[in-house]
Amino acid sequence: MKKVNIGIIGLGTIGKGVYKILLQRREFFKRKYGIDFHIAKVCDKNAKIRKRLNIKPKIFTSSFQNVISDKNIDVVIELIGGINPARDIILRSLQSGKKVITANKALLSQDLSLILSAAKKNKTQIRFEASVCGGIPIIKSLTEGLVCDRIESMVGIINGTSNYILSRMMQEECSFFEALAEARKKGFAERNPSLDIKGFDSAHKLSILAYLAFGKYVSQKDIYVKGIEDISPLDIKYAKELGLVIKLLAIAKKVDKNVLEVRVHPALIPRIHPLANVGGVFNAVYVKGELVGDMLFFGKGAGQMPTASAVISDLFDLAMGKGSAESPQKDIIKKIKRIDNIQSKYYIRFMAIDKPGVLAKISGVLAKRKISIASVTQTERQRARVVPVVMLTHDVREKDIRLALEEIDRLAIIRKNSVVIHREEF
Ligand code: HSE
Repeated sequence: MKKVNIGIIGLGTIGKGVYKILLQRREFFKRKYGIDFHIAKVCDKNAKIRKRLNIKPKIFTSSFQNVISDKNIDVVIELIGGINPARDIILRSLQSGKKVITANKALLSQDLSLILSAAKKNKTQIRFEASVCGGIPIIKSLTEGLVCDRIESMVGIINGTSNYILSRMMQEECSFFEALAEARKKGFAERNPSLDIKGFDSAHKLSILAYLAFGKYVSQKDIYVKGIEDISPLDIKYAKELGLVIKLLAIAKKVDKNVLEVRVHPALIPRIHPLANVGGVFNAVYVKGELVGDMLFFGKGAGQMPTASAVISDLFDLAMGKGSAESPQKDIIKKIKRIDNIQSKYYIRFMAIDKPGVLAKISGVLAKRKISIASVTQTERQRARVVPVVMLTHDVREKDIRLALEEIDRLAIIRKNSVVIHREEF
């Protein structure tokens, strides 16, 4: 029987889940796989948790030093999150030859190259399936299942909180703040949900996925990020009428042999696209491979048991001698395209005075910038003299649309800043 001595650091939601599963399924894992996962040490800075979880005093510690200096421990599971001391725990564990599992997306998005090379240098391994999309085995799929393919694009809904808020706004036609309050009440949103709603949580996860899919480490500063706070019920209503659904998308796609686009922003997608039906707190990643074609990975992106199950799948890989989660792709990406230069379709809403010649003025500016219009909708004027004019464009360079809108917003016929939202077809 193979015995694996484990040290768990951090007994938050996921840590507790991992602890419980390892205890409850220990005999099953022994019987079915011939592996004895033995919890040698458990660490949490809150010592009161020991009694609550009925952890034996001799395996409990409040100091992570006691875990990383324990020579018997084979695998350290870091689940405290944040940058420090998680970074120190991971690097020191690797330096002492221990294998490491982490779910720490913020840290990996910042220090992935450093951590992977520390594992290599010390002839040990690190795995991080739980860092992206909770229970969905997307990392394993990219590093193993798709090992011989070349990924062309990856479009994900990888933040459950934002997806819940946008789904509620679509269904209930409520405001962003009402939907956020509801997400908080149901316990979906964190006490400080700003990383989620501003798009940074998605960007952290996207940099990990982009590395695995394209072999290129993309730092946070190279990812264009826009959150969902400015999405208004009015635009959701018009989008719906146009057969579109709004999602916070994390996109990484090869646009040339060695050029990558990496961006996170709200986008309108056709109602019939599989990602449009990913509602509530669910996550999904739509991957296009050169050989395999289109794939959709769908499931729970957070929560105690889905995420704990991803941690334990890493434990199996390490116990069975699989290496670190490395990108199977060669580093052929040389350049990240700047957001100004990307080509996209757009939804634009102008708030204009309703009088003859208004559309001619707007379209004149768009024509000057070679922006081609796919459709125009103007709602019937009621009492107000200002009416929304909604346009969909064909593919346009981002910079051109921004310059055109700046010019249009200066016209006397325009009464409010225009709204622009990406439109994706993939
Ligand atoms: N805050 C994250 C989300 C949790 O809303 O998806 C999982 O990383």
